[in-house]
Amino acid sequence: MNTSSPDLLPDTNAGHATAAGILRSGRLVAFPTETVYGLGADACDDRAVARIFEAKGRPSFNPLIVHFANLDTLKQHVHWTPEAELLAQTYWPGPLTLVLRKQADSPISELVSAGLDTIAVRLPAHDSARAILRSFGGGVAAPSANRSGQISPTSAQHVVASLGARVDAILDGGPCKVGVESTIVGLTDKPILLRPGGITEQELAETLGRHLAVRHKAEAISAPGQLMSHYAPKALVRLNATEWEPGEIRLGFGEVDCDLNLSRTEDLVEAAAHLFDYLHRLDAMGGGTIAVSPIPHEGLGIAINDRLSRAAAPREG
Ligand code: TXA
Ligand code: MG
Repeated sequence: MNTSSPDLLPDTNAGHATAAGILRSGRLVAFPTETVYGLGADACDDRAVARIFEAKGRPSFNPLIVHFANLDTLKQHVHWTPEAELLAQTYWPGPLTLVLRKQADSPISELVSAGLDTIAVRLPAHDSARAILRSFGGGVAAPSANRSGQISPTSAQHVVASLGARVDAILDGGPCKVGVESTIVGLTDKPILLRPGGITEQELAETLGRHLAVRHKAEAISAPGQLMSHYAPKALVRLNATEWEPGEIRLGFGEVDCDLNLSRTEDLVEAAAHLFDYLHRLDAMGGGTIAVSPIPHEGLGIAINDRLSRAAAPREG
């Protein structure tokens, strides 16, 4: 990480091309959308996505929204539905995010959806965002560009104040128009409003010709535990394993003998990048217990341990 301040890129063709190049090299770029500034990374690059969580200092892995410039490209990653088509035709580009089932062969990082089989996608309206996304070509994962627990940024200066040199560059496109995050609608079952935002529930209901279910406050997105409970390995999970029991499937960290190693060099960004993919792969081996090496409880290790302790928690019914 560079220790000075991030590069401020101008809102010009050259600035957009530079931003796209930084994304292509696996680094982070903050950019304006019509809602708030996003902290972007190549959604298909596991390590780049892990760096988002490191930069935000989030104590858990909330799934991220993937941004596209082009609807046909977006559709390649999800199971598209007639209701998605209706909402997309009405509100995109714009401040609406759709949660859809992920295509099994989509190369989008498992960390983006925190192990779930769905992804949140949107086509933002902001000209600079669209220019960067077009130049980049693929999907860009981007949460709001602030440290965890701070308010969402609506100017490049807010991003500098919150993230400083944790972000490699910021495209300065002036203030954001909407100022509140996108409305999130889940379309994996009956339409459900997952987060209120720039587009109202009433507008959505009119477009769809039906009421939306509304996620209850207690299950709100701010309580990621609720969301995470959707994915847990079938196998039992044993944490802080310093030696292996016979028959266990072994998820290692550091210089240990194991089935898959989160990071032989004890690099927490690498470990986070592999986490969900490896849990899925080890679970598919069909064993009774996945034992996991101790992970240091610092930096990204806090989010990794949060996820692992959920995976190890006693199961309901
Ligand atoms: O306006 C916005 O949406 C901004 C700009 C940058 O696009 N982005 C934003 O991202 O607000 P973030 O990470 O702060 O919020 C994304 C929310 C999270 O709270 C997460 O729980 C939810 O989207 N989300 C993402 N993927 C999901 C999924 N597969 N299922 C359910 N919820 C999901
Ligand atoms: Mg946020």
